[in-house]
Amino acid sequence: MQHQGERAPSKNRRDPSSPIGIFDSGVGGLTVVKAMQKELPAERLIYFGDTARVPYGSKSQVTIRRYAHDDTAMLMKHFPKMIIVACNTVSALALDVVERTGRGVPVVGVLEAGADLAVRRTLNGRIGVIGTQATVCSNAYELAINAIDPEIEVFSAACPLFVPLAEEGFVDHPATRLITEEYLEGLLRQGIDTLVLGCTHYPILKEMIGAVAGPGVRIIDSAEAVALSARETLAEAGMLDGSGRRMSPHLMVSDLPQKFRSLYRLFLGADVPDVELVEV
Ligand code: DGL
Repeated sequence: MQHQGERAPSKNRRDPSSPIGIFDSGVGGLTVVKAMQKELPAERLIYFGDTARVPYGSKSQVTIRRYAHDDTAMLMKHFPKMIIVACNTVSALALDVVERTGRGVPVVGVLEAGADLAVRRTLNGRIGVIGTQATVCSNAYELAINAIDPEIEVFSAACPLFVPLAEEGFVDHPATRLITEEYLEGLLRQGIDTLVLGCTHYPILKEMIGAVAGPGVRIIDSAEAVALSARETLAEAGMLDGSGRRMSPHLMVSDLPQKFRSLYRLFLGADVPDVELVEV
């Protein structure tokens, strides 16, 4: 495995060897990093987790839009060829801010990718969506799903406690089971056959969520969906990195790099690259 520093320093123009910038409020976007490494192993990934300001999902739209601008500006310093918004909250409320700040760099949001996959997977046309308070209140998933198929019924629930549980690494803790049962009860009563994990922190708790939802409910991981969508966008633009080298990601956080390192090890089960502390 090659590390970032072994390649030539970034240039002021974009080509297939330029990095893909990814950001989230914290560790949640690592689920997207994992999916990207599986789908596009040769790509250079630059990840920013805004650990100083997590969570985003309980903040106002004005604040979330300001954070979205700062996070994008941070990644733009590295001349990315694409920006992946690995945060449903920002995808729901501030995708236009990312596009504007990205000045023409293609932007892929998790939300559209997850909505699209859910529509393709449901058999009974009843989809559940779980996400942060801000994502659920925005109705963005319902709008995206009904824009594809207006007949589908969407049932949503905010699960604010899932973010701190994921950030604490409480993946199979009894408290996580109790909270999951509480959050999913109403959705399961609606007879959903598909459940969208509408927050990138939630795939960290996927096993528990799947166990509580039961075998009759397909779980849609928006992290996997966005990796597929990123591959398509890069292929269409002729911007896939064909070098075939495996790169470890360049990780940046705005606070507590040590904690981020241990969570990286837990979620990705891989060698932990250096984590750079940056100021937003
Ligand atoms: N992981 C993010 C999302 O997908 C945000 C979680 C948060 O910071 O509240 O919505």
